Amino acid sequence: MQRVTLKDKTFVPYITADKIAESVRLMAQKINTDLASDMPLFLVVLNGSFMFAADLLKEVTIPCEISFIKLASYHGTSSTGTVTEMIGLTEEIKGRTIVVVEDIVDTGVTLEKLMTLLIKKEVKQVKVASFLLKPEAYTKAMVVDYVGMEIPNEFVVGYGLDYDGLGRNMKEIYVLEKK
Ligand code: IMP
Ligand code: MG
Repeated sequence: MQRVTLKDKTFVPYITADKIAESVRLMAQKINTDLASDMPLFLVVLNGSFMFAADLLKEVTIPCEISFIKLASYHGTSSTGTVTEMIGLTEEIKGRTIVVVEDIVDTGVTLEKLMTLLIKKEVKQVKVASFLLKPEAYTKAMVVDYVGMEIPNEFVVGYGLDYDGLGRNMKEIYVLEKK
């Protein structure tokens, strides 16, 4: 692993592909045990989660379904401000166990909005599987049920995560170089 430059920023190696694989395996094992009889629907939140989701779901061996969504926000015409919308969901999810698959939970704002949308659809329960969590930045009370790794409040790229659209394809995780 070498330093990488993406646009105006330089990143240094942070989490190796082996470490990533190990924590993904451990998470899948927990999910296999916990949700064996729930027939969960994994909802993969694009774009960032594509790589993590592919690795995780190869190790998930229980009966399940997988679907992909995107979140879009737009400014509503009323005073409610930014409205978040879920795009791409075609499955009926009422009464089901949903596992939200996220690349990273930072402040938790995105996750909270998604949760609100799912709860409105009368799901049975929502579990959250995030590869990364930044506990120092997290401001919400929701439990993140499955966490691959906790990291400090620093900006990372790779393994699906981007800086201004770049870096998603790297199989290791890099952190912004300290000046
Ligand atoms: P939130 O603050 O939990 O709502 O996170 C919002 C989004 O910010 C995440 O889904 C990521 O797309 C992005 N994000 C947060 N931290 C990082 C990071 O360290 N690298 C790349 N993207 C990040
Ligand atoms: Mg994301």
